[in-house]
Amino acid sequence: MRSRTKIAIIGTGQVGTATAFELIITGLVDDLVLVDLNAQAAASQALDLNQAASAQPFGTVVTSGGYDACGDADIVVITASAPLKAGGSRDSLLISSCGIVDAIVPDVVEAGFDGIFVVITNPVDVVTDRVARLSGFPRERVIGTGTALDSLRIRQQLSQIFSVDEQSIQAYAMGEHGDTQMVPWSAVTFWGKPLDQAIADNPERSRGVDPDTVLDEAKDSAFQIVKGKGTTSFGIAATTCAIIAAIVRDERSIIPVSVRLDGEYGYNDIFVGVPTIIGVDGIREVVNIHLTPEEKKAFDASVSRIAEVRDHAPA
Ligand code: 2OP
Repeated sequence: MRSRTKIAIIGTGQVGTATAFELIITGLVDDLVLVDLNAQAAASQALDLNQAASAQPFGTVVTSGGYDACGDADIVVITASAPLKAGGSRDSLLISSCGIVDAIVPDVVEAGFDGIFVVITNPVDVVTDRVARLSGFPRERVIGTGTALDSLRIRQQLSQIFSVDEQSIQAYAMGEHGDTQMVPWSAVTFWGKPLDQAIADNPERSRGVDPDTVLDEAKDSAFQIVKGKGTTSFGIAATTCAIIAAIVRDERSIIPVSVRLDGEYGYNDIFVGVPTIIGVDGIREVVNIHLTPEEKKAFDASVSRIAEVRDHAPA
């Protein structure tokens, strides 16, 4: 980390600009560079966001530039993507997203970038895998947003059902950031109190809690948002900023992100959403949640799905 934290965001659509805005208002970044194929759009967004930065006490400077401007960044966030069609799956973006990162990553590395990639572009597990291969970076420095947002959605649902603050709930979605994601319900706790005990002890509050419905509604919420506004943006921006905060402040927070498994959970060489400890150097550790046999089966099915999507990626 340099004395001024520099972050580049590639792709200045709704996701990129929401992420930029949150970085500015939280003061997580000193120098922010916006990069987009549409250089004029990036320049205009930079101008606008600089005015937002002026209203904050952090002295953030926002500029726009090309891939060469990413060379000395600490973190490069890749958001560039074709729009997700309403009702379409994230996998439908596979071919276009692979083309997009193929055009970005070699130039960014060529510019001298040796920091941490944070990848949002869907299908995020396979795209993050591709960014890792294209860059040749070690696993700690290539992070996909993975199931971080899904986990937030699960916590939000449980928070509403139990009337407990989200921050007091530990719950992870794992596996694919997509339809096959799963939740190890046996590991969900309210500050250590397991979910099944919370349900048993609070029948009136938890009436009707059905884990499958909680997961389905969390998954569906992405498409409800896309239906009305064409994309999700603020939730993923907030999630991305939480990952960036963990890096910039060396928080060592546990966040479920897409990371290459090196033997954990019985897998090698595949990017999957799992809880990790994140600090200044990126991924410090994959957290090994002890899954029940049933949960492991669901996790395995999700990993198989990621492998299947990856098999359809262009060479
Ligand atoms: C999301 O889950 C669409 O992947 C995006 O918000």
